[in-house]
Amino acid sequence: MVNVAVLGYGTVGSGVVEVFRLNQSRIDKCAGTEVRLKYVLDLRDFPGDPVQDIIIHDFEKIVGDEEVDVVVEVMGGIEPAYTFVKRCLEAGKNVVTSNKALVAAHGSELLELAQKKNVNYLFEASVGGGIPIIRPLNTSLTGDEIEEITGILNGTTNYMMTKMFYEGADYDAVLKEAQANGFAERNPEADVEGYDACRKIAILTSIVSGQQVDFEDIYTEGITNITKEDMKYAREMGMVIKLLAMMKRDREKVEAIVAPFLLPLEHPLASVNGVFNAIFVHGNALGDAMFYGSGAGKMPTASAVVADIVDAAKNRHKNLSRYWTGQKLTLADRMEVKR
Ligand code: HSE
Repeated sequence: MVNVAVLGYGTVGSGVVEVFRLNQSRIDKCAGTEVRLKYVLDLRDFPGDPVQDIIIHDFEKIVGDEEVDVVVEVMGGIEPAYTFVKRCLEAGKNVVTSNKALVAAHGSELLELAQKKNVNYLFEASVGGGIPIIRPLNTSLTGDEIEEITGILNGTTNYMMTKMFYEGADYDAVLKEAQANGFAERNPEADVEGYDACRKIAILTSIVSGQQVDFEDIYTEGITNITKEDMKYAREMGMVIKLLAMMKRDREKVEAIVAPFLLPLEHPLASVNGVFNAIFVHGNALGDAMFYGSGAGKMPTASAVVADIVDAAKNRHKNLSRYWTGQKLTLADRMEVKR
């Protein structure tokens, strides 16, 4: 049996519990062993909810319990998540996370620690919600040099811009809707200023380059200056405005940017609407591939987290991969793109 502890019972944490309730037998079958949720750590109590039976308030109980093999960090933010993850890895526990802020900021260090301890630090849910992208880049596409990634990587802003474009909706009203639907970050600035997409493209660029990309080095512009008038003019030109996160690399340089772009309506990314994300990948042997699906929200994100739990349960005494090193990658000053 593999015991799992979940840190945080917010949107994603409660989704993870729900996926276990829904798919327990399939999870056990795929893991090749019974996978049991032993603890959920949260500051709050949930009287009347069956989760209350496993709610605890003391992290030390998790890190000190030798029966816990897999810890799921779905708290978000840097602290205390960073300290907790480090402590768990040091204690020889596998860690699974959806926390892109932490992966982007401390990924190389945490990956190195996981490798040293022969456990795993897995983060499929950190980019693209439920869409598989980390695992494909790290397994199926390793025969290629990945030369371009262009993605709609933030569900909140894509939802907002879709509503603004097609329904003439008001910016503040659609932001509130995205928050109510559980897509938006706790501080929605992270979505609308492009910081969330920036961290996600930093993670993908780190994977394909094998080196640490500092998200601060990526030119980032959000959607706060996009107005209904801009949408109207775009439509008149047969275009749509999308917040894109891009990286291009060749032998000489790697470039990355997050910004709103005008796309012709027939462009494959132009029809990615609502909370959906899409990630276009170009490899030097593969050519083009596109990954498309539910990019944010409770159940899609929890689906990716649970897949990582299954992987961690199966490989709990074997480090699957290093992903990237701590050597810093210097990005080209400014990405040359037609805007
Ligand atoms: N706030 C994020 C988004 C959540 O809207 O895409 C998923 O990472």
